[in-house]
Formats: sequence, C-alpha cells, structure tokens
Amino acid sequence: MPRLWEKGEPLDQRVLRYTAEEDHRLDERLVPYDVRASIAHATMLKERGLLAASDCEAIAQGLQALADSHARGEWSIRLEDEDCHTALESRLTEQIGEAGGRVHLARSRNDQVLAALRLYLRDEVESLAGEVGQAVQELTELAVRQGELELPGYTHLQRAMPSSVALWAHGFAAELQDDQQGLRATRRRLDKNPLGSAAGYGVPVLPIDRERTRELLDFEVVHEPVTAVQLSRGKAEAHVLFEVALLMQDLGRLAADLVLFATQEFAFVKLPDALTTGSSIMPQKRNPDLFELVRGRSGQAHAWLLEVLSVPVKLTSGYHRDLQLIKAPLFRGIDAAHDTVLLMTHALGDVAFRPENIELDPSLFAAEQAYRLVIDEGIPFREAYRRIADELKE
Ligand code: ARG
Repeated sequence: MPRLWEKGEPLDQRVLRYTAEEDHRLDERLVPYDVRASIAHATMLKERGLLAASDCEAIAQGLQALADSHARGEWSIRLEDEDCHTALESRLTEQIGEAGGRVHLARSRNDQVLAALRLYLRDEVESLAGEVGQAVQELTELAVRQGELELPGYTHLQRAMPSSVALWAHGFAAELQDDQQGLRATRRRLDKNPLGSAAGYGVPVLPIDRERTRELLDFEVVHEPVTAVQLSRGKAEAHVLFEVALLMQDLGRLAADLVLFATQEFAFVKLPDALTTGSSIMPQKRNPDLFELVRGRSGQAHAWLLEVLSVPVKLTSGYHRDLQLIKAPLFRGIDAAHDTVLLMTHALGDVAFRPENIELDPSLFAAEQAYRLVIDEGIPFREAYRRIADELKE
C-alpha cells in the first residue's frame, strides 16, 4: 500500500474522490477564464524575460486551442485532474511538450483560482444584470397593456387602498432595477488582480510585473498586499450571492402575488396553460408550479449565501482547501438566478389581468375620503378619520 505522501505513487482513490469531489465538474465553467488568465500570465513572463517568445507563443496557442476544443465538448476535466488548472496544464504539456511545463512559473493554483473566478463572476454579473433589464422591460409593457386597471392594494393581506396594475408592475420593476445596480456594484470586489500573489506570499527572486497582468485582464487595481488575496476569497462570491438573494427575493414575491392572484378565490389573473401544470389525479386543475418553485428557490438563495459565508469564517489566514467548497453554492445560486429571471420574463409576457373579476369596494377609499375632509373643512386628520370610520360602521 503506497503512502499518500510518496511522490509519484497513485493517490488513494477515496481520498481523491473526497478532496476533488465535484470540483472537476464545477470547474468546467472556469476553463475559458483560466485560459485567459494563463495567457496573460505567460505574456507577462515573456515581457519580463522569464519565458522565451517562442514558448509563450506555443503556450498561448495551445491554451486557446484547448479552450476551443473544450467549448466544442471534445474534452472535460477528469476526477484525476482535480481541477481546471491541473487539467489545462497537463493537457497543454501533452500537446506542446516542455514549454507547457514553463507556464506555472511564478504562480500557484491559489492565485489562479481567484483570477478565474473573478473573471467568470464579472461576466456572470453583467449578463445577469442584462437579463434583469429584460424583466423590467416586460413589467413596463404589462403596465402599458393593462396599467389603467385598478387593483386593491393590500396590507396584512387585507384590502387597504386603491392601487393599479401600473403601480403593481412599476413597484417590482423599480426594485429589479435596484437589484441590477446591486449586482453591478459587486464589481468593486471583483476588480482586483490576484495574480502574482501566487500561493499567498508573493514571488521571490523573479522580476514579475503584477501591474502588467492587471492591465491585460482589465482589472482595476492590483490586489495588495499579497497576503490580502487569500483573505478575500469568498467575499466577492458572498457579495454576488447577496445581490442574487435580493433579486430572487423580489422575483419570489412577484411569483407569490401571481400564485395568489391565480387562485379561484381571487381570479385576478389568467395564467396560460403553457405556464401551468396539470394534476395527476384531478382533471380540472391547472397548477402554478412554476411560480411556486420561483418562490421556493428564492428561499434557497438565502441558504446558498449562508453556505458561502460559512466557509471562510474562522479559518486562519492564507489558503485552505476548505475554500474550494465555496464554488458549489455560488454556481448553484448564479444558475438559479439566470433560469429564474429568464422564465419570469417569459411568463410576464403572458400574464393577463381579468378586469371582470376585479372590483374595488368603497371602503378602500376611506383614507382618501378622510383626506378630503381635512382639505375641505380644515379639521384635524384624527377627527376626519373618526367621522369616516363612523360612516363606514353604518
Ligand atoms: N480547486 C482548488 C480551490 O478551489 C484550487 C486551488 C487548489 N490549491 C491547492 N493548493 N490545493 O481552492
């Protein structure tokens, strides 16, 4: 039985499965970003005289070819590769030979994973914010189609004041725009170049240029000092998931309204058959499962955030393998957010309010009447309130 620490011996399969776990599958999405960061790193090494121009060329072309064939689905990361960084380096070396072994000079997987994650999250945040914009657009169009229609406004789920489809839709649209800004504001934490911090303590001897990789990867600043980099792991991720959780909360509350409005008792909206599902036992039923699951996932989104927050907390400084566990809830949250926004956007285009079922009884205008009394008769609001309350009692 070979010892784990014996170099060159096969690692015990169970340890490998436990430590690499789902990481190799999760890392699939980081491949293009790791390639981008690696090409920037190699370019910097070349410019600093640490890598021959021909080797740099071979590395850049080899990595790009690997990114392309990966995008075409021609290879995937194996459990034995552990993660995208090792998978890319070993495949690169297979393909271009010795030059592949030169790319890892002056770096570590610890700064590599942060670079790939930040580039990835920058893209995700921007595309998600764009998709939220589409949902805002749909709500605005709903307000154009049926905005004039009056709706009862509820507090405590009791009829409170007159509202309208326009007010309802614009309220959600405004908060979604706020979520859009919140998502984009996470850029502050994503825009720091981790490369060159290597394992977490910088690169001795070699004249590397962290400013150059910053420029090549379009980060706003170099993440300094090197010891800050590993302390920051999980913070941008949590920031993004926090904004995702708030976005999901708004979509979940929108979905909750639609579930309520689609009940036979309310019947304020008609949901098209394509958006509902049937019952396996009661032939008459159409169920709003889509909206129920949006509501359900909005609660899960808070749990994913908590899961991310719980990983780095209490760790001593520097890199720890625990940090790898941040990726699963992070990706789950991001994927759920994309799917939810896209489906809700699609659904909103098909939601129709039913004026024939919406009636505002006079009590909804009680506050309004009290205000009129104050204006017309100059009496204190409390007195007007009592007079209207008495009239309503009769
Ligand atoms: N998969 C690892 C992670 O996400 C990559 C970094 C591994 N670094 C190491 N020293 N084992 O954290």
